[in-house]
Parts: sequence; structure tokens; C-alpha cells
Amino acid sequence: TCHTVLLNTGVHMPLLGLGTDKLVSPDIVHQAVDAALAAGYRAFDSATVYQNESALGQALKKLLPKYWFDSRGYFHNQLDVGYIDLYLIHWPGTQNRSVSDQRNSGNRAQSWAALEELHAQGTLKAIGVSNYTPAHMRELMQSCKVPPALLQVEFHPQLCQDELRSVCKEYGVCFQAYSSLGRGELLHGPVVLEVAKNCGRSPAQVLLRWAVQQGVAVLPKSSNPDRIRENAEIFDFSISDSDMDRLSALECSHRYCWDPSQVV
Ligand code: A2P
Repeated sequence: TCHTVLLNTGVHMPLLGLGTDKLVSPDIVHQAVDAALAAGYRAFDSATVYQNESALGQALKKLLPKYWFDSRGYFHNQLDVGYIDLYLIHWPGTQNRSVSDQRNSGNRAQSWAALEELHAQGTLKAIGVSNYTPAHMRELMQSCKVPPALLQVEFHPQLCQDELRSVCKEYGVCFQAYSSLGRGELLHGPVVLEVAKNCGRSPAQVLLRWAVQQGVAVLPKSSNPDRIRENAEIFDFSISDSDMDRLSALECSHRYCWDPSQVV
């Protein structure tokens, strides 16, 4: 069964996708994609900076014929096969501090216009953004011709992103999490361990379930076939309301990844 969320493009996107950061060698990518397809993953998240786009494209080309898909199947990336289902602006500014705020804002507008053009041509089926702050989202909504379909940001119980989530809700933008496991560091917290015990599930499954139970899409990243399978088994149990609240109460604005809020 494929659990999906409806994008504002009218297309359903899987709530679960495989994150591929740090998966570089073609063999590891192939093994991970094979395990993921077998476990039911139908979305794959890559980025130019991960340096694995062509390895991912090749693995998908080789492996997809092994698996049956219905015609509404959704692929996050079909790299090197003509089109991409969803393409995101990775970061709202440049890392270079000497670039002015105004220049960053101009670059964002130009990048978005370029994505709109590729979207109009059909090369990109949906377009969106990553690491945008509420201010970046408002700026984009005021100037865009095509609204973003999705925002992808760091999201886990220590970083609940209330403001961004309500901005996305207001604008009809799908909210997608990265680093749901806090880069693995959240797996050992006492509250997570206790909820895991209550559910009879692993800490990783609890952290992923906490997100999808709120309608948030997730991209757990693993190179290990057993953990790739484990991370997909999150749709056959639920977390009680009180345990959901206990997890959400871990909020402390803590980031495990780069903070985009300095980019104006
Ligand atoms: P590995 O690739 O060896 O499985 P995040 O997505 O929050 O950045 O976390 C990813 C990290 O968590 C990776 O280092 C990954 O290591 C590890 N990881 C992924 N899934 C699990 C799991 N089910 N149990 C334990 N660790 C996991």
C-alpha cells in the first residue's frame, strides 16, 4: 500500500521517500534502491551536492523493470529519463556572506522563474523549495506565477516548525521533513525510547510515525537494507494522542543541520 499526500498540482506523492545523502558509490546506491523498492518506497530524494544523481538514475533505470507499478505511480526523481517529478530549490541563499541580502532575494526570484519555465515545458512535473523560512515563503508567494508544491525542511520533535507548518497550510504547500531522526541522535532519548516501548516499535519507527501521523512526509536516509525496511514499516501502527503530545513537548528549537534563518 502506498500512503500518499495530495499536492496542489493534483498529483499524489508518497508520504515516505528514501533520503540519499551520503550514499555515493554506485554499488551502495543500487543496493539501497533495490531494498527500498522491495520495501515499497516509491520516492527518492537526491541533490546535486550529494553527487549521486547519475548513480541514482542508473539504479532506477535498471531496477524499475523488476517492480510492478500502476500507471499512477509517482517517482520523486527519474533522473536522466526525460523528466523529474518534483524539483526543489535546495537553499534560499548562498553560503557566501559577502553576497548581499538584495542579491539573494534577486537570485531566489530568478531561480524560481527558471523552475517555472521548466515546469511549463513539462520537464519538471512539480516545483518546490527547501530550507525556506516563513519570510522566504511569503516573498515567494507574493511574486510567483506557479506556487510551490512543497517545502522540505528539518523537522523532528525537537524542531516542530509550528510557524512554517501554518504558513504551508495557509498557502496549500505540502510540508516534508528531512532529518526526522536528528541525524540518528534522537534515537536514544528517554521519551522516544519510552514511546517506542509503548508501541512495541523501534525508536526510528516512532520518530517517523510521529511525522506521518501529522500528515508530514518523511525521507529517512539509510544505506542499510534492514534499516531501509524498518523505516518503511510505519503505516501499520499508531502513536496514542498522549504519546504524540509527549514527543511534541521535546520542542526546543534544536537543529542538527544548517540553519537557514540567517539568509535574508
Ligand atoms: P545508516 O545509513 O547506517 O542506517 P537523519 O535522516 O535524521 O539524518 O538520520 C540518518 C542517520 O540515521 C544515518 O546515519 C542512518 O545510518 C541512521 N539510521 C537510519 N535509519 C535508522 C534506523 N532505523 N535505526 C537506526 N539508525 C538509523
